Amino acid sequence: MIPLVVVGAGGFGREVLDIVEAAGAASEVRLVGVIDDNPSAANLDLLDRRDVPYLGSVQGWLTSADTSSFVVGVANPAHRRLIDERMTAAGHTSATLVHPAASLGSEVSVGPGAIICAGARLTTNIDLGRHVHVHVNSTIGHDTSLGDYVSTYPLSAVSGSCRLATGATIGAHATVLQGLTIGADAFVGAGAVVVADVPPHSIVKGVPAR
Ligand SMILES: CC(C)(COP(=O)(O)OP(=O)(O)OC[C@H]1O[C@@H](n2cnc3c(N)ncnc32)[C@H](O)[C@@H]1OP(=O)(O)O)[C@@H](O)C(=O)NCCC(=O)NCCS
Repeated sequence: MIPLVVVGAGGFGREVLDIVEAAGAASEVRLVGVIDDNPSAANLDLLDRRDVPYLGSVQGWLTSADTSSFVVGVANPAHRRLIDERMTAAGHTSATLVHPAASLGSEVSVGPGAIICAGARLTTNIDLGRHVHVHVNSTIGHDTSLGDYVSTYPLSAVSGSCRLATGATIGAHATVLQGLTIGADAFVGAGAVVVADVPPHSIVKGVPAR
């Protein structure tokens, strides 16, 4: 079993702990604990209640002898990228986590650090980059690529032949119509229906999304 640390004691970090538990032996990972630079007292209490050790800050942990692999349970794509870069530069390997209640079709390529939650459905010929998060009940259609640090939030539906560039985020229950490109670091608001390409670094919302 590969020892694993989860970066992030917040809400999504703790959902990631559930994936580790649900995947069990099939995931080939063994949870060592959680690291976080600034955990709230409430989040530390929630870790304590489930007997998950808090291992300190990223910097503190990096100076320890622990050689565990890692995943990043942090939603913000820019923060996720920085954490990945620091951990990788220090020689740690990114793990991938797939909840047993997710489904991945044929020819789905999952990059290092990817986290795929319960109920996610990825159909066929899909590429995921580094540290992509596919949240609960999000669907990704055929021939779609998700760049590094992309997130698709709960119940979002990304249609076939789309391209989500690095750091793009699709809000909860949003729909991206087929063949569209979501630019780097763009944010699609919750419930939006995206009917045209979204420029990089922009926020769109509503139906149709603007
Ligand atoms: C779109 C979003 C990124 C905020 O964008 P923003 O431009 O900073 O929006 P603001 O909060 O400043 O609100 C600006 C206006 O947009 C409206 N608005 C905000 N989010 C909206 C949404 N998803 N759909 C439609 N309108 C929205 C606000 O009501 C406000 O309207 P007003 O000007 O008439 O008062 C955010 O609201 C959102 O949808 N985030 C996704 C949340 C999510 O999916 N969470 C799941 C976590 S797992």
